[in-house]
Amino acid sequence: MNSFVSQNPADNFDVSRETSAGAYGDLLDVSRETSTSGSYSGAPDTPLARAARAAMSSRGQEEVWPRPESCRVISVANQKGGVGKTTTTVNIAAALAMHGQRVLVVDLDPQGNASTALSMERDNRTRSIYHCLVEDEEIRKLAQPVPDIPNLWCAPATIDLAGAEIELVSLVAREARLKRAFAAYDTSDLDYILIDCPPSLGLLTVNAMVACDEVMIPIQCEYYALEGLGQLLRNVELVQSHLNPGLAVSTILLTMYDGRTRLSQQVADEVRSHFGDTVLKTLIPRSVRVSEAPSYGQSVMTYDPGSSGALAYLEAAREIAHRAKRH
Ligand SMILES: Nc1ncnc2c1ncn2[C@@H]1O[C@H](COP(=O)(O)OP(=O)(O)OP(=O)(O)O)[C@@H](O)[C@H]1O
Ligand SMILES: [Mg+2]
Repeated sequence: MNSFVSQNPADNFDVSRETSAGAYGDLLDVSRETSTSGSYSGAPDTPLARAARAAMSSRGQEEVWPRPESCRVISVANQKGGVGKTTTTVNIAAALAMHGQRVLVVDLDPQGNASTALSMERDNRTRSIYHCLVEDEEIRKLAQPVPDIPNLWCAPATIDLAGAEIELVSLVAREARLKRAFAAYDTSDLDYILIDCPPSLGLLTVNAMVACDEVMIPIQCEYYALEGLGQLLRNVELVQSHLNPGLAVSTILLTMYDGRTRLSQQVADEVRSHFGDTVLKTLIPRSVRVSEAPSYGQSVMTYDPGSSGALAYLEAAREIAHRAKRH
């Protein structure tokens, strides 16, 4: 199925209930999450705390999340490597889709990690986002449905994309190739497009920023977390003033938070004091389950929905869904 077919939202809620029922049943099995997994929003990761969170979350599963008036296009960007861009893209997208939102993930990173995490089929003949940028292929034709998650599609990346930064240089309107691709089809049957950016500020990331309305920046709660952030914000301003006046940093998400360390708390406090309520209230804990999920071709939302990482991403996605666009 290569089109973003609208599906009956009621079906989707059935699916998420089914998923949660299995997952929360498993919660009682203490051995399922190792003690190395982090805390959720600073809370202890004990069996009791997990059961309480599961109860809270199963209530949340019934909640209907608001649909945006028009498709929200969000770039997940930070030129610093390994801060959780792909993990955030994949899990927020999965959480939104599990709550009835229609979501397309665009993998704009030649590493193709989001495509792997979402079990995209790729071989020599796969048409990917590279063909869309360089050969004007329609996104609708190359997007694949994500197995087991209704309402979620992914436009995969293949290794060809590694050459795209250079090939794009000679093309007309090279910064606006992705925007043009989005404009070429009707996004009215999508609620969100999430773009997973590579760890650089090159032409691929610029294409993402020109094509989107909002930038989401994951910040890892570690030493050097804020290094390079000034450069990223200056780039957003440059794109805003020359190429995309509507662009805004709408969301900052603190990732890999470890409530046991003072460093994590210090980074979180510093980011909040700089960026105020652009920062989501939810912190994503460091969690073994989150890092294991991609090797099974899954998001943590399906791999272990009751884990602290999955519940945190669920909560973060809910915050995003309830936030109006900030400009
Ligand atoms: N909350 C978390 N807990 C534990 N491990 C995590 C968490 N979030 C991400 N990771 C792990 O950290 C590594 C980097 O994460 P990810 O690939 O999402 O970062 P990235 O910013 O997309 O990296 P790149 O810059 O290379 O694209 C991965 O191995 C991932 O599984
Ligand atoms: Mg990545």
